[in-house]
Amino acid sequence: MKKWYSVIGDPIHQSMSPKMHDAWFDENGVDASYIPHHVAASALANAVESLKQLGCSGWNVTVPHKTAIIPLLDEIDETAKHMNAVNTVVVMENGRLRGYNTDGDGFVQSLEMQFGEQAKGKKVLVIGAGGAARGICFALEAKGYGPITIANRTIETAEQLADDLQEAIPLSLLSAEKTIASYGLIIQTTTVGMNYADAGIPVEMEGLASNAIVADIIYNPLETKFLKEAKRHGAQTMNGVGMFVHQGAIAFEKWTEIRPDTEKMKHKITTNLGGSSC
Ligand code: ATR
Repeated sequence: MKKWYSVIGDPIHQSMSPKMHDAWFDENGVDASYIPHHVAASALANAVESLKQLGCSGWNVTVPHKTAIIPLLDEIDETAKHMNAVNTVVVMENGRLRGYNTDGDGFVQSLEMQFGEQAKGKKVLVIGAGGAARGICFALEAKGYGPITIANRTIETAEQLADDLQEAIPLSLLSAEKTIASYGLIIQTTTVGMNYADAGIPVEMEGLASNAIVADIIYNPLETKFLKEAKRHGAQTMNGVGMFVHQGAIAFEKWTEIRPDTEKMKHKITTNLGGSSC
């Protein structure tokens, strides 16, 4: 029987996940489809029950449900527990719902696809301490990256995240700006710069090392002001398309046991967003 998958969120119309997963189903000869569902916060419990009753085989979870869905699931993977956020649900053969978070691993896979092991051993600066930063920090730590410094506008949130990691240093944005030259891998995870090509940047890049690797998890615009600045200082850069594609690929693999083609998808999405290459 044809299987179906979904993504739930509010808003949901902007999600590129349906096109991505449907293309992968086609490419891999999987008889399935992926349907977005707009679910308001107040309707989450009913929606989860309905997905289950209607035979959905698995779904992605996006804003604002990533944490709220946790008590509605039967099992939570260790990484998702650390992050207190789920972005992928697998309906297991026995009907139980298991929650995962593939965001952090998606970022690290994307980083390694583009730079190999080049970033290993470099001093890491993560800018932002929200849900995305949390996933990335745990994934980086698990893969042996670091030491990690976390700079955030609200220092208490950086302190909390640093406490939850094995070894990380919290910092203010101003201190990060002053010490920017000492970092070899800089990852921008805040929402600053999203949707507007000329939007601001969370920290100035004056003195940035020219051999630094600088990543921004934003993919719209493809090149944020932050990445433009990094390039101007000679750094190698990575936008958020790879993280988006890889978090989806890990979910796809959990559902189908097939590893989809991530490079082709990165190219397709980049072109759709008006860019010419990844
Ligand atoms: P996500 O799940 O995408 O990480 P989030 O959990 O809401 O989203 O986190 C947003 C991050 O962007 C936070 O680190 C936030 O900083 P605060 O903890 O101080 O709120 C950061 N952020 C949002 N707007 C910002 C701004 N104008 N300047 C600096 N940081 C900002």
